[in-house]
Amino acid sequence: MTGVTEDAGRIRRADEDAIAEAAGILRAGGLVAFPTETVYGLGADATDDAAVAGIFAAKARPSFNPLIVHVADANAAKALVAFTPDAEALAAAFWPGALTLVLPRRADCRISLLCSAGLDSLGVRAPAHPVAQRLLAACGRPLAAPSANRSGRISPTTAAHVAESLGARVPLILDGGPCAVGLESTVLDLTGPRPALLRPGGITEAEIHDVVGPLARVEVSATEQPRAPGQLDSHYAPSRPLRLEATTVGPKEALVAFGPEVPAGAAATVNLSPSGDLTEAAARLFAALHELDRPELEAIAVMPIPEEGLGRAINDRLRRAAAPRRQL
Ligand code: TXA
Ligand code: MG
Repeated sequence: MTGVTEDAGRIRRADEDAIAEAAGILRAGGLVAFPTETVYGLGADATDDAAVAGIFAAKARPSFNPLIVHVADANAAKALVAFTPDAEALAAAFWPGALTLVLPRRADCRISLLCSAGLDSLGVRAPAHPVAQRLLAACGRPLAAPSANRSGRISPTTAAHVAESLGARVPLILDGGPCAVGLESTVLDLTGPRPALLRPGGITEAEIHDVVGPLARVEVSATEQPRAPGQLDSHYAPSRPLRLEATTVGPKEALVAFGPEVPAGAAATVNLSPSGDLTEAAARLFAALHELDRPELEAIAVMPIPEEGLGRAINDRLRRAAAPRRQL
């Protein structure tokens, strides 16, 4: 191995001292994994081209994917992108929180062009997690941060997931406990005449509808460059095949259950929410897939999840995890 120190992949509880160390690493152009309320992010100084390139290298990520830039609040975002009335209303309603707004870059935008991946837009988000906010304040830079997993794999909702997926590729992982939302942010494109949903996520379409009215439909063609890589068919994939809408389960299968009535006979079962609560299910989804992704099992069977509210984002991730694997 090259350039790997014995400190590599070190997990530190996110106290003031650890946050100060993390801020120092980020200001020096290094990478730090940190908690947000959605999933853990792999952060770099978004104004530093080399640091941002380091994210792509660590994730082995296809370079056409743009990165979300994290900021403290709407004012900080306005220094980077041109806000619209819809952006004002959405930021007022949902920030800090699980909503990413894609907006035109300002002419004087200091953010690395790598974060925009060749587009003239930028995805910005103010995270709600106190550790993310303290880190932003301590380093004083906007932070580019995709989910802290290898490209195409399940997003991490604990510090241990990050260590499993990226290990020595990240020098410091700030541990802020399990993520409360557990699904990535909703990505909304505000560069067109109507807001368009690029990725369902922690804020539901109905909640967004209440603020800005109906959303434009995004048609994805197989040949076109995806507007959001969450649109690639196979994404968020565990290594075991997934079987959706399962109402029975085999002895060599793991079961992701939902609700009070669970079929018996699985090799292992995780119930996302015995009471059938979609918010609780979202928070547990990725941890369940991580836990049940065991080589000795033939498949992961998943019970039906209602296609409503956060269930849409959950089913979106499950369908991608179940899709035929495509070389990224
Ligand atoms: O919850 C989250 O969003 C997490 C945490 C760490 O903030 N981050 C995350 O990042 O999920 P990532 O890179 O795994 O997914 C970002 C999504 C991708 O689908 C990307 O294509 C889209 O946001 N995105 C970012 N900037 C964009 C842009 N300028 N145009 C279109 N899509 C963009
Ligand atoms: Mg991701």
